[in-house]
Amino acid sequence: MRNLIVLGGGEDQIPAYREGRRLGYRVIGVDQRPDALGKAEADEFLCMTSRDPDGIARALGPIDVAAVISPASDAAQEAVAELSRIYRTPHQTAAGALRCTVDKGYFRQVIDRLGLPAYRYAQADDVEELTRAAADLGYPLIVKPADSSGSKGITVLDGPADLPGAIEHARKNSFSRQVILEELIEGRHGAVESFFADGRLAFMAVTDRVITGRPAMISLAHIVPAALDPSVYARLTEAVTAICAEVGHRQGPVNFDFVLTPGGDLCFIEMGARLGGNGMPLMVRHAFGLNTVEAAVRLALGEPLTIDVTLRRTAALRILTAEADGVLTDVEGLDELRRMPEVVDVQVFKAPGDHVRAYTQAGHKLGYLVLVADTREQLEESLDRALRTLRFEIEPDAKGST
Ligand SMILES: Nc1ncnc2c1ncn2[C@@H]1O[C@H](COP(=O)(O)OP(=O)(O)O)[C@@H](O)[C@H]1O
Ligand SMILES: [Mg+2]
Repeated sequence: MRNLIVLGGGEDQIPAYREGRRLGYRVIGVDQRPDALGKAEADEFLCMTSRDPDGIARALGPIDVAAVISPASDAAQEAVAELSRIYRTPHQTAAGALRCTVDKGYFRQVIDRLGLPAYRYAQADDVEELTRAAADLGYPLIVKPADSSGSKGITVLDGPADLPGAIEHARKNSFSRQVILEELIEGRHGAVESFFADGRLAFMAVTDRVITGRPAMISLAHIVPAALDPSVYARLTEAVTAICAEVGHRQGPVNFDFVLTPGGDLCFIEMGARLGGNGMPLMVRHAFGLNTVEAAVRLALGEPLTIDVTLRRTAALRILTAEADGVLTDVEGLDELRRMPEVVDVQVFKAPGDHVRAYTQAGHKLGYLVLVADTREQLEESLDRALRTLRFEIEPDAKGST
């Protein structure tokens, strides 16, 4: 039986484990967390960092690997590329697209080169250089690790007082120690989840993105279709096509964050040449009837792609969160929630007795809720009702404990 390696064992990688097994492969999962969800889903599980391709290959020995994949994670994409070379698997992400995924400053250069709406930024690993750049850029600004994801290490600043702490926070969350400072763009936040096949934009979902706001700007919900003017959709299509042509991305999933400014500019924030995180493929499946996880696995295996949209529904994906650090004692209303006709999927990753964290980064999520409805109004009404129905009872940590 041939092997499929999935790097990462978090909630956003699990669908790839299941898809791999469904397609008849032996799935090898890799995650450094011994309690990763992937451990129970894999045929073989390596408890080690997914960023060490040579170490992974050594640990596995001479085996036959059909494909390597890591949905949602930027941190693992370079290791995916290296392992794909080691095992000579059929598909490689284009080098330029990979670089955009792991280096936000490089992505900004691509945007600038294409003449797309741009904003000011500076990237460096040196604190003094960053401090000078911040004085130059002015405030408000956003401080981010250049190579991370899931809003780890991000701070929005209104003035220089907290700059040293924000730089340190970003550096700690960056593998390359590179920190990027960006002008904070005001406007509507959105995301694009798309799939290229044979050099063509074969699928594009555009979402309205609800975020937590400052300081960390973490996704709370995605809603499709985004309530945007058809002309904005047209410009998004054009820009996504131009960016991918520029970086050589002819095949596979690619995910973008953007802000639409009050003046109508579409400012792209970041790009990941991989499936989106935060349950994005789950929402795509319910809203468009398209299994992008299967498509991404088949692409990695070198099989021909069919990207067919069979539905167009109004859908929301809400990330379920805790407000405080503590121990989850009870989950109430789950059965009632599942009986709501609009609720098509509920996933809870934590069980009573587990320690949970306040939602200060995407990784602290408790679960996903997916709803569909006929209209946006009905969707929002049922989302409110669903959130009133579900209750996480949490015994907060004593003050001073972690
Ligand atoms: N320059 C910016 N202006 C306004 N909002 C931003 C900016 N940079 C990031 N954000 C917000 O913060 C979120 C997280 O930043 P992002 O660069 O996507 O980091 P991550 O890789 O952790 O997802 C973005 O999706 C966006 O909502
Ligand atoms: Mg992002």
